[in-house]
Amino acid sequence: MGLIRVEQLYKVYKVKNSRKGLLGGVADLFAPQWVDKEAVNCIDFTINQGESVGYIGPNGSGKSTTIKMLTGILYPTSGRVLVNHVEPYHNRLKNASMIGAVFGQRSQLWWDLAIRESFELFRHIYRIPYPMFKKNLDKMVELLGLNEFYSTPVRQLSLGQRMRAEIACAFFHEPLIVYLDEPTIGLDVVAKEQVRLFLREINKEKQTTIILTTHDMDDIQQVCERLILIDHGQLIFDSPMEHFVNQYGKERMLLLQFEHHVDNLQVDHGVLVENQNNQAKILFNKDSISATKLIQKMTECYPVMDCKIEEPKIEHLMRMVYEERGRNE
Ligand SMILES: Nc1ncnc2c1ncn2[C@@H]1O[C@H](COP(=O)(O)OP(=O)(O)O)[C@@H](O)[C@H]1O
Ligand SMILES: [Mg+2]
Repeated sequence: MGLIRVEQLYKVYKVKNSRKGLLGGVADLFAPQWVDKEAVNCIDFTINQGESVGYIGPNGSGKSTTIKMLTGILYPTSGRVLVNHVEPYHNRLKNASMIGAVFGQRSQLWWDLAIRESFELFRHIYRIPYPMFKKNLDKMVELLGLNEFYSTPVRQLSLGQRMRAEIACAFFHEPLIVYLDEPTIGLDVVAKEQVRLFLREINKEKQTTIILTTHDMDDIQQVCERLILIDHGQLIFDSPMEHFVNQYGKERMLLLQFEHHVDNLQVDHGVLVENQNNQAKILFNKDSISATKLIQKMTECYPVMDCKIEEPKIEHLMRMVYEERGRNE
């Protein structure tokens, strides 16, 4: 049946089309032309209770727009979302009792209040019974390390401290589902680690369904059991994390620095993803060719000055998914 059902979800924004030149600018001012921007383009998926799902894709691929429709902030242009039989944007109140949400770019805390007071307000707004609140509070204070700044006004907190408090807020009323849109953006390593541990723990212990958007591959690997990849508003991959790691976890990125720019760089083992100025980036599968071998081959043919191996970024892995899809179609 599924706790969250997304059916042919579609959203267009009307955006102003800017025309070129002075005359165009004047025309835009007096008679703006509106064009459709398809942000989410017929997406389907079902999520069951207790799943932890990474919803990922490059910038502008439609992640936040999806999350906003799932949380009921935005209406779909067509298609629908059902969360526990409720369409969130039609019944926001009912939906609010079932979900928690964290938007990395926006705060739900009161700027002038201390965390403790914000939490207290939250308890009243959500009518959380005191014993439940207290039990959860103790747990979050411990897991998220909130005590060191528990009485500090929100305005004086670091981003990492504030985000940990935001995350706590989303879980107090023991919602069925928590949506987190880029919760770790800008956080330091320690704070990121705390957030991941916390999400994993709460997902395991309470079967809270977690939907997470992020740019950080480590967030996903540590928190999510399932991956949904989107690009240009379309779903391109939906599978267990394990499959993704088996298929793409062996990819590595070789960064090469040349004495000068090399035109028409030939790469036999791997994919050339960038070749700018004196630098090139090659994505390769470490099971198909070892890094040493690849570097040796490149050095034989080109004026290589320096090289480095990196873990590939999500964008690069997505490109692999894309190319493979292209080959299979
Ligand atoms: N309020 C808006 N008005 C017009 N266009 C928007 C608005 N919000 C997002 N978009 C556009 O819709 C697309 C998807 O945006 P978004 O859902 O924010 O992507 P993501 O979260 O994956 O970066 C982008 O091209 C973005 O520019
Ligand atoms: Mg976004």
